[in-house]
Amino acid sequence: METQVKEHYSSETLLSRIEEALDKAGKDRENLSIKDIAPMDQMHSCGIPATLNLLEKAKIPANAGLLDIGCGLGGSCRAVAQNRDCKVTGLDLSESLIEAAKVLTKYTKLDKSISYKTGSVLDLPFEAKQFDVVLCQHILVNIKDTKRAFSECLRVLAQKGKLIIHEITRGPGPDLVMPVPWADRAEISCIKPWDTYTTMLSDLGFVREYEKDQTEMATNWWQKIHENKQKNQGKVFPITPALVFGNNADEFSRTMLENFSKKSVCLMEAVYMKL
Ligand SMILES: C[S@@+](CC[C@H](N)C(=O)[O-])C[C@H]1O[C@@H](n2cnc3c(N)ncnc32)[C@H](O)[C@@H]1O
Repeated sequence: METQVKEHYSSETLLSRIEEALDKAGKDRENLSIKDIAPMDQMHSCGIPATLNLLEKAKIPANAGLLDIGCGLGGSCRAVAQNRDCKVTGLDLSESLIEAAKVLTKYTKLDKSISYKTGSVLDLPFEAKQFDVVLCQHILVNIKDTKRAFSECLRVLAQKGKLIIHEITRGPGPDLVMPVPWADRAEISCIKPWDTYTTMLSDLGFVREYEKDQTEMATNWWQKIHENKQKNQGKVFPITPALVFGNNADEFSRTMLENFSKKSVCLMEAVYMKL
């Protein structure tokens, strides 16, 4: 499974294509803002505000050590480092995403607060009790062995550490329409009903502090993205999710709007504490 997931997100030319796109868009690489690259590096529903609002709910301590598992291009790592008092570590399976994440972090001058590592959430390359916070954002969508992923999160969290979850889950609706950002075919989509996750978390001893179903917010968000796409038909935006996902990205607003509207998928957010 990991090999197929890696292939889905990886490309040897990713960094050079991103740099070309930045030039084409007229962005100054040495003075890049996180807003400049948000259309490409926020690889989850509802963008930067969703991440920051959720972090607020977790009431994390000052100078917290935060691990972002499945950090992708590092979009949330940079948003968190810029807006919260945290030392951030990003981890991802894909070497090409991590290579690009490091360079984008340098361009946005956030490299003093963020470090990156390649690796799997199923075997985290970190010591036990190393982090105050683990951010789990749209990664479980690609994880078959969710229990092992949660056990690894538990291991690397310090006592009273927080697991912050922002995930797409399987809803009661019909089969998903594809492609979606995390999968171009059903075999690599691992989404499960929310109850499956909450049962695993409580079996492992995590305590729930906060939970909210954000499906309506996500449906409205994708509706807006879809409307903007139709309004801007024919216009060229160089900084786009297509840099990571290729031509499939063109379909995402249609498929995600349909999947959310028919409740084939839901968006759930939660904060859990390690006792
Ligand atoms: C949909 S993207 C979300 C990226 C990022 N969390 C965000 O919200 O912008 C899922 C990410 O999880 C990573 N991933 C999938 N399986 C993984 C695993 N076993 N270990 C680490 N990362 C993984 C993928 O490479 C990809 O970057």
